[in-house]
Amino acid sequence: MLSKEDNQLLCQIGPGTPMGDVFRRYWNPVLLSEDLPGADSDPVRVRILGEDLVAFRNSDGAVGLLAEGCLHRGVSLALGRVEGNGIRCLYHGWKFAATGQLLETPNTPDVRIRERLKARAYPTREAGGLVWAYMGPAEHEPPMPAWSFMNVATANLKVVRLDSGSNYMQLVEGGADSSHVGILHTNFARPGWITGEFRANEEEDNPAALATNDMAPTLDIEDTEFGFHYAAVRALPDEGGQARKNIRIVPLVMPSTRIIPSPAMQFVVFEVPIDDHNTRTISVAHRTDGGHFETGKRYDEMRGRDNPALLDQKTFVYLGNWDNRFGQDRKAMAEDWSGIRGVVMEDLAMSMSPGPIVDRSAEHLVAADAAVVRARRQLLDSVRLLQAGQSPIGVKADLSRVAACDETTPAATPWKALAPGHHARVAR
Ligand code: FES
Ligand SMILES: [Fe+2]
Repeated sequence: MLSKEDNQLLCQIGPGTPMGDVFRRYWNPVLLSEDLPGADSDPVRVRILGEDLVAFRNSDGAVGLLAEGCLHRGVSLALGRVEGNGIRCLYHGWKFAATGQLLETPNTPDVRIRERLKARAYPTREAGGLVWAYMGPAEHEPPMPAWSFMNVATANLKVVRLDSGSNYMQLVEGGADSSHVGILHTNFARPGWITGEFRANEEEDNPAALATNDMAPTLDIEDTEFGFHYAAVRALPDEGGQARKNIRIVPLVMPSTRIIPSPAMQFVVFEVPIDDHNTRTISVAHRTDGGHFETGKRYDEMRGRDNPALLDQKTFVYLGNWDNRFGQDRKAMAEDWSGIRGVVMEDLAMSMSPGPIVDRSAEHLVAADAAVVRARRQLLDSVRLLQAGQSPIGVKADLSRVAACDETTPAATPWKALAPGHHARVAR
């Protein structure tokens, strides 16, 4: 349970809010590289952390990210012309460089205005198929995070995005919540559920495939440099007289990223706040060994991303709401546990059903929610650290060996042995 005040503190991320200040201390992914496919391609409107921005790609390939409204009279630069080394407002031709520098002002002879004014501009980088932005104070810009997927060949990455209508924290909590996997995602996790027999889902690329029927995993949590990680340990029947267990380790990387494992894959999921009521989910999938995997129809089907009634196939805006009951087919529920097709569509229905900001003062948490509680705690702790003049948790953490895992081991194996790249956080 959270007080109403802490809930607000947690959820409000606009400019000048305490949590908004925390998010602005990290490099956050804001777009896919393919959203700006080539030099001088069409500019893209992006709303991130409650700010309306325009992204464009210069002739030299660099990505500019500026306040959307023109400095002159506020017209959207997203309608502008992308010209060589900048973007030109359509209305009176003011031209801005990616740095925000005002290059040309053809409707006024006063050239000093170009020295006086500068558009709000944020530094960007590109890596791992994503465009990253740093929106915080220049003097606190941290090094670019070195995620291990940035070393995987782009052809072996599957990078997708989706915008939906709930606060980022509802989605982060869904990702931190291991105990829903075997229940909400029953169709995938327990394919034999109708007849009451457990058959393990053998799809090694399915994040909702569980090796066991154990609905109440034990959770163990440890704070790390990057945030925290937890292990969900599920009991397994003995094999050849040997006791076994299944271990799923999920890293929660500050501020709002998780890595979900399947036996062969890593799914890195960023929940980037658009504003207090909307979130951009960016997901990067790759094989743990960096090899090629099938990214075609099956990937979208498993998640329900191929359903045009629930996901706009051009803008990737989620279309589920109470009017269409989040795509739930009640009649199908005799054979389809949730009545909602696809793992991601199931998750989004849960996240959006209480409204954009859930009242956390009315909840009743249980032991299975331990990771949810920790995710909130480290964000709120980061607000306090920042207000005390320190850096939020994990800003400079080495992410190069951070990984999730889903493995079946002998019962005696300590779970931390499976996460050798995660360093425990030492008390400050
Ligand atoms: S509003 Fe952009 S140049 Fe006038
Ligand atoms: Fe889920």
